[in-house]
Amino acid sequence: MKKSFMLGLILLVLTFSLAGCSNSITNRQTESSNAEKTQAIPPASKASQANKEGKNALVVYFSLPETTNPDHMTKEESNSTVIIDGKVLGNTQYVAYLIQANTGADLFRIEPKTPYPTEHKKLVTLAKEEQQNKVRPALAANVENLDQYKVVFLGYPNWWGDMPMVVYSFLESHDLSGKTIIPFNTHGGSGFSNTINTIAALQPKATIVKNGFSVSRDTVQNCAEDVASWVKELKY
Ligand SMILES: Cc1cc2nc3c(=O)[nH]c(=O)nc-3n(C[C@H](O)[C@H](O)[C@H](O)COP(=O)(O)O)c2cc1C
Repeated sequence: MKKSFMLGLILLVLTFSLAGCSNSITNRQTESSNAEKTQAIPPASKASQANKEGKNALVVYFSLPETTNPDHMTKEESNSTVIIDGKVLGNTQYVAYLIQANTGADLFRIEPKTPYPTEHKKLVTLAKEEQQNKVRPALAANVENLDQYKVVFLGYPNWWGDMPMVVYSFLESHDLSGKTIIPFNTHGGSGFSNTINTIAALQPKATIVKNGFSVSRDTVQNCAEDVASWVKELKY
């Protein structure tokens, strides 16, 4: 009974959040992971009052899962992904979904017009070149009706000790003045690096929440409860 109730709630959330994914979250297939995870994205009905209270929150994120195939992943592919019932999500994408489930916020995925390669070596080389050359990749789309949002959760992976350049493109083409920006990121050991200060410099008229959520790619698959408590603390 309890099991089928939980199953129903989870299905409901995933219908909205993951467009067709089914109902349980399994562990990312890292070499070290041997336990199947049974955590789930919290039901949307538990969403905080963000939108109801007229705070109108948006979760903006960039994420690059290095494969969409859940089988036979390389180490690099498994490092950048979380698997939900056979469906592959990027690490930051997964955290973005958790924030959405806890807040009821809208979701916007930052995507470059020209997709990044998913082949690891090509990706790290290109990312480094973009950083060195201060490239601003063109965005595939912009946020519409930005005015309606007062709170913007902004998520990205740590790339070469910084934000991916496409996140700079986003921040330089969207005016977040007067809004509250709440950063979150995933990483392989570097945490946020100096990105919180960079965001503050790029959006000087926004309020930047300093206690953003940062999680290692090694533990991201277990972070659902941490995300929920962090969001609760923020009162969004
Ligand atoms: C191009 C590139 C550069 C990276 N540089 C760093 C780094 O400097 N420090 C770090 O901790 N992790 C680094 N990582 C690891 C990612 O931050 C980590 O795998 C992240 O969780 C990926 O998130 P995603 O799946 O949402 O894209 C890098 C990954 C890539 C692909």
